[in-house]
Amino acid sequence: MLTNPPGIEDIFPDRIDAWNRVTGAAREVFRLNNYREIIIPVMEYTEVFARGLGDETDIVSKEMFTFEDRGGRSLTLRPEGTASVVRAYVSNGEYNRLSSAKFYYCGPMFRAERPQKGRLRQFNQFGAEFFGSADPYYDYEIIAMMHAISRRVGIGDFTLLVNSIGCPAPDCRGGYIERLKSYFADHRDGLCEDCGRRLDKNPLRILDCKQDGCAALKKGSPSIADHLCGACREHHAGVREHLDVASIHYTEDPYLVRGLDYYTRTTFEFVTDRLGGQNAFAAGGRYDSLVETFGGKPTPAVGFAAGIERMLLLAGDADARAAGLDAYLVHSGGEALHQALALSRALRGAGISADLDPQGKSFKNQFKKADRESARFTVIIGEDEAAERACTVKDMATGEQKKIPAELCAATILESLPEYGRGHGSN
Ligand code: HAM
Repeated sequence: MLTNPPGIEDIFPDRIDAWNRVTGAAREVFRLNNYREIIIPVMEYTEVFARGLGDETDIVSKEMFTFEDRGGRSLTLRPEGTASVVRAYVSNGEYNRLSSAKFYYCGPMFRAERPQKGRLRQFNQFGAEFFGSADPYYDYEIIAMMHAISRRVGIGDFTLLVNSIGCPAPDCRGGYIERLKSYFADHRDGLCEDCGRRLDKNPLRILDCKQDGCAALKKGSPSIADHLCGACREHHAGVREHLDVASIHYTEDPYLVRGLDYYTRTTFEFVTDRLGGQNAFAAGGRYDSLVETFGGKPTPAVGFAAGIERMLLLAGDADARAAGLDAYLVHSGGEALHQALALSRALRGAGISADLDPQGKSFKNQFKKADRESARFTVIIGEDEAAERACTVKDMATGEQKKIPAELCAATILESLPEYGRGHGSN
């Protein structure tokens, strides 16, 4: 019997509903934020990744599936999407002439890692990349989109780790790296073999090492937070402020460096302890120099990617309510039904999923249906509400309800939906 190679999976129909729910939530959040899909090639010339991700990264040095084409050129199956999107952006004059551009992508990536739960050799990501501004708002927008997608698919028990790794200037990361080098040089004996090599070429990588000895040494090492230049410090404060205003909870982790060399300033990861060794299910950051590295004009950029298989492992046992309907309308027939129908059209127009039963018998019967649909809200239009052109909005999670003018219904529900980052009990 022929088998598939280790870490390269089939996705059978029993996983497709959950799969589509995750990718559907991502596509919807991207649409709401004006990100448009780009389909990038599955393979590139090897230089795209070597130059883009950094020769010293684990991905480039030992995890790529690389082979020669018939003409002797080196090709690589893409290990991630960012380098390809940047290559595509730089080569497409129409897009890079725009003052800013927003892309998202979805598809398989390939890394020759040791397979285990949540760690595959062919895995799927969705991701988004923004080009054209260094404003911290966009770091926030990228993080907020991933936050919203997690909430939409019902993943709530995660921690968002945020850091700034500054810029290469000598009074910023440049100087910090020197400090780090001398700290780890003093403790060289405690480092694993790989980190011994990283010490000269890329000491930041040591902070990412999971070996016990290196992880213990990391705890006493200098922190980037104490070495940021004024501009990077201000940028980081801006990102934090946007997150605070949107009530997106995060934890500052000054040792979060990530395994790719293109990052500048913001880095972040969505982590959980439910995935064993593979604790991140999404990650990203700012990469203000990558477009130039690929021959484009200086263009600040920021993005993220999420692992679909890891999200499925997490969403599998999540609360079904989070993935259910936004609003179920309960009405008392007659004029109330007319108003409920008009309101359902208005809610859908505002991006809120809504349903109702025109034949709706008793309130009790309609409430049962709302429950069956895992509705986040029920919107009640009885005779009283109909007479006042009002509706009663009931939050099914908390049981709270209030009567409001019907025209405020969509705004009231949007306020509370987690995908807008202002949901109940954010993380
Ligand atoms: P990354 O952290 O290498 O970042 O990967 C992002 C996500 O892909 C991870 O958090 C994880 O969920 C998933 N992933 C990575 N490797 C595997 C694997 N072997 N098996 C299963 N899932 C995996 C990037 O790829 C960057 N391009 C993110 C980015 C976009 N930064 C800026 N823009």
